[in-house]
Amino acid sequence: MKKVTVHAPGTVANLVCGFDILGLALNEPNDIMELTLIDEPVVRIINRDQYNLPTEPEKNVAGVVLLSILEKTGNKFGFEVTIEKHIKPGSGIGSSAASAAGAAVGAGLLLDSAFSTDELVQFAMNGEKLASGVKHADNIAPCILGGVSLIRCIHPLDIVRVDAPDLHVTVVHPQIEVRTSDARQILREKIYLKDAIKQWGNIAGLVTGFIKGDYDLIGRSLEDVIIEPLRSLLIPGFDEVKKGCKEAGALGGGISGSGPSVFMLSKDRNTALEVEKVMKEVYTRIGIEFHTYVTTINKEGVKAVVSQ
Ligand code: HSE
Repeated sequence: MKKVTVHAPGTVANLVCGFDILGLALNEPNDIMELTLIDEPVVRIINRDQYNLPTEPEKNVAGVVLLSILEKTGNKFGFEVTIEKHIKPGSGIGSSAASAAGAAVGAGLLLDSAFSTDELVQFAMNGEKLASGVKHADNIAPCILGGVSLIRCIHPLDIVRVDAPDLHVTVVHPQIEVRTSDARQILREKIYLKDAIKQWGNIAGLVTGFIKGDYDLIGRSLEDVIIEPLRSLLIPGFDEVKKGCKEAGALGGGISGSGPSVFMLSKDRNTALEVEKVMKEVYTRIGIEFHTYVTTINKEGVKAVVSQ
């Protein structure tokens, strides 16, 4: 029987100034999923991790993605999916996106690559809708494509892959819970024009900095005057971590996705390791358990292997 084994990477969404429109894929951590086709037109989910996520497909991020693919293809068959999550749900490093994107890519391969990349992103966004209440692709797109993605628009979908120089990414995940839906609810519906001008200057600067490999411009542009001032209140130690990491040589960084993880970009691995020390020191002192990653940008995105 045909089986697809998928490695779906964690991702950092928003990239500080690009709320809902920018994201990058990480080389670590990765979820692992195995998908097979079954005769019955249902989705069967088997969890092989400690997170106790729902196995009812309509309540599971991968499940709703696979249900949407079944519906689109006329309910002629079903899927069985085994999920081994290494990206902790609610961490802010694209756990739901990895489940959603992994399910979409795996199912697409089982169906002989029946779907375009845009269609895979559309299917996968159903998972983000379940997880956060809103469709967005800033984790999904880099998870599938790798590298840095710009989501210029989602209606209609317009994803631009942005070249980026080699960058080292340090992530700290303080073990507190910040639900994406809550972190979205605290945001203001209306913003000042002066803030918008600053923000779009930074977004344009960041994308240009990536394309030109201009590390100073990347660092200067990693500034968020709209979302971070509100969301950072949900993350103990945020200001201290950010200040300390920049003093340790990081180009800059901020909240990863909707938090609570915080990420920093650095030019080289030694700096990324110094940044990790700062993160560890702050959370040890505050007394909050944490997990860190020191990794690089994943340039390939979801990896899938088909076997018979
Ligand atoms: N762009 C999303 C947000 C990413 O910040 O809410 C988290 O899913």
